[in-house]
Amino acid sequence: MSRRQSLQALSAFLAGSPLINSQDVVRDHTRVPGLKELQNALEFEEVAFSKLARSVYNYRAYGEEGEFTLRRNRQAFDWVELIPRRINAGMVDTSIELLGTKMAFPILVSPTAAHGEMHPDGEKETHKGAAAAANTPMIVSNNSSFPFDKVAAAAESPTWVQLYPKQSLEANRQYLEGAQAAGAKAVVVTIDQQASVYERAQHDRNLVQGGGRGGPRAARAQAGNPYRVFDGRLWYEWKFFDQIRPIVKVPMLAKGVLTGADAKLCIEHGVDAIYVSNHGGRSMDYTPATLEVLPEIVDAVAGKVPVIFDSGIRRGSDILKALALGASAVCLGRAPLWGLGSFGSAGVQRVLEILQAELVEAMRETGRTNLASIDRKLVRINFP
Ligand code: LAC
Repeated sequence: MSRRQSLQALSAFLAGSPLINSQDVVRDHTRVPGLKELQNALEFEEVAFSKLARSVYNYRAYGEEGEFTLRRNRQAFDWVELIPRRINAGMVDTSIELLGTKMAFPILVSPTAAHGEMHPDGEKETHKGAAAAANTPMIVSNNSSFPFDKVAAAAESPTWVQLYPKQSLEANRQYLEGAQAAGAKAVVVTIDQQASVYERAQHDRNLVQGGGRGGPRAARAQAGNPYRVFDGRLWYEWKFFDQIRPIVKVPMLAKGVLTGADAKLCIEHGVDAIYVSNHGGRSMDYTPATLEVLPEIVDAVAGKVPVIFDSGIRRGSDILKALALGASAVCLGRAPLWGLGSFGSAGVQRVLEILQAELVEAMRETGRTNLASIDRKLVRINFP
């Protein structure tokens, strides 16, 4: 079901609900549906939209420039069909150990910035929701509203930490040593977003509500960089991984890889896992959908290290397709954020549980009872 169809189905359901019609106080068009009425992860976005300040919603919802890549990330899932096998008896086992982290499902929360704008307890609230959903690991953003140690201490599920490279090696050391001392089980180094512009966020500075959020690039634009071109990360090279390797005692991942050639370079520079991502279409427009490039990267990596995947996942079947194309696990960015923005930790938990249940259902329907039995034979690829 497309997002549009799903929203139409939700409004039809709400319009026809006897609950609404029997209540003469609540006006249906102002009523925000309750947590348990939402049937899929997509529907949480509309509730979050209705509850959040416009600039807070906009910052997360939109992509770069014309948003070709944002749309393409979703569209790519339509180009991969699932070919079911019959019949495979037995309970579905989705458990996996990834880089030393034990997980009930091959699902993590992607690093996303500034949860404090969406909920007073910010990332601590997200972490509680993730932990309540079968102990889902959370990758805490380098741009979190609360410091890593506070987020890690808020709930029991494993936490990984994201790093945006800083030019001063000492600054990286302080941050990474602090996070590892506070229990970070892996370090995710984001290597895209080197020069992007956040065009919408620039416009949002003019919105009265919420004050707008231009992020670091807006500040830079005001400080004598009128054309929005971000140059704060243009200094680093592949050897950055070699420089921080002695500081990183836990597994180290590179996030933002979109080609097999770059995946190979990551491995040459000591990276322990490849994180295929186009930043949810927020880094550079007209980069391909991550699902389209996943097979090339998995082939290049040739089993040397795990490959994980994000950008565009909203359904359990999306997760199954990424696993079939060779991902060991997937990460979810916007989906849990809409859970947080709509219902706090309960929303995060619910979004994750819906996707976990949908993955189980999709595996059962395609005759796969464990992750090892998921391979490319499960899919027919119709990329244009
Ligand atoms: C973003 C940056 C902060 O996408 O990663 O918002």
